[in-house]
Amino acid sequence: GHVVVLAGGLSYEREVSLRSGRRVADALRAVDVPVELRDADATLLDALTNDPPDAVLPVLHGAAGEDGAIRDVLELLDIPYVGARPDACRVAWDKPSAKSVVRRAGLSTPASVALPKEVFHDLGASSVLDHIVRRLGLPLFVKPTRGGSALGGSVVREAGELPAAMVGCFAYGDAALVEQYIEGTEIAVSVIERSGEPQALPAVEIVAPGGRYDYTARYDAGDTEFVVPARLTPEAAERATHAAVTAHRALGLRDLSRTDLIVDANGEAHFLEVNVAPGMTETSLFPLAVSAADLDLGAVCRDLLQARFT
Ligand code: DAL
Ligand code: MG
Repeated sequence: GHVVVLAGGLSYEREVSLRSGRRVADALRAVDVPVELRDADATLLDALTNDPPDAVLPVLHGAAGEDGAIRDVLELLDIPYVGARPDACRVAWDKPSAKSVVRRAGLSTPASVALPKEVFHDLGASSVLDHIVRRLGLPLFVKPTRGGSALGGSVVREAGELPAAMVGCFAYGDAALVEQYIEGTEIAVSVIERSGEPQALPAVEIVAPGGRYDYTARYDAGDTEFVVPARLTPEAAERATHAAVTAHRALGLRDLSRTDLIVDANGEAHFLEVNVAPGMTETSLFPLAVSAADLDLGAVCRDLLQARFT
């Protein structure tokens, strides 16, 4: 048998996904797993039906990869795959929905408002923005409700910067999430399931140039400094771990996830978002956490794949 690593796709994060896919495929080959690396293109279904793999590892970022659509197709073909099921992906991928779920599960997440582009324009953009600033204050963070890799996201420190942030956001999505920007330590906590139990890996602290963990800071090697384990008090680290495992459970995720959080000066963790297909590139957070836990990326992926086809 063989396994298929699915990477590429047509989202804005295609290039990132290709890098993730190559890294994961190499890691699996290093532990002697026969791997086929495939794009989610018009040849995929024929390939999967003519020579069915034992299981698929989707490393597709962005829409279709993370919104559950491709996984729906894998379900249709009865092909086992690693990671969250389609229904769970749909909720996790939509940031406002994910925030409500984790808030109900007792986590803190920054106050926010979600605005579809049409509503924003119909109601009069500038008066909507006035009300947002009055209600949520400053600074704010604006990002697409569905998106990744910080594309279309920006910090707004003065009200005058908000219109441009909205325009930048709508270039990448049809709805904006305007969120209170909480100052603090930006961390990511990866979760993997071993024998059905979600376990948090060491928190990775992100020290981005100028405090901006944007697309370049994410993927240009050397731009961002990562500190593992994150410099947190034991209590704060415990809360962050709890938040990631709670988010994983409350959203009904499976196998692996990465929760992005801000830890404030009081050590409280605030949920920003969760990723059902975390980046696996040379500069990505999930593989760093795996190494920090003294695990091997290939072995972790192999075990998750094997758990699906046995
Ligand atoms: N969306 C990118 C791939 C990440 O979260 O790592
Ligand atoms: Mg993300």
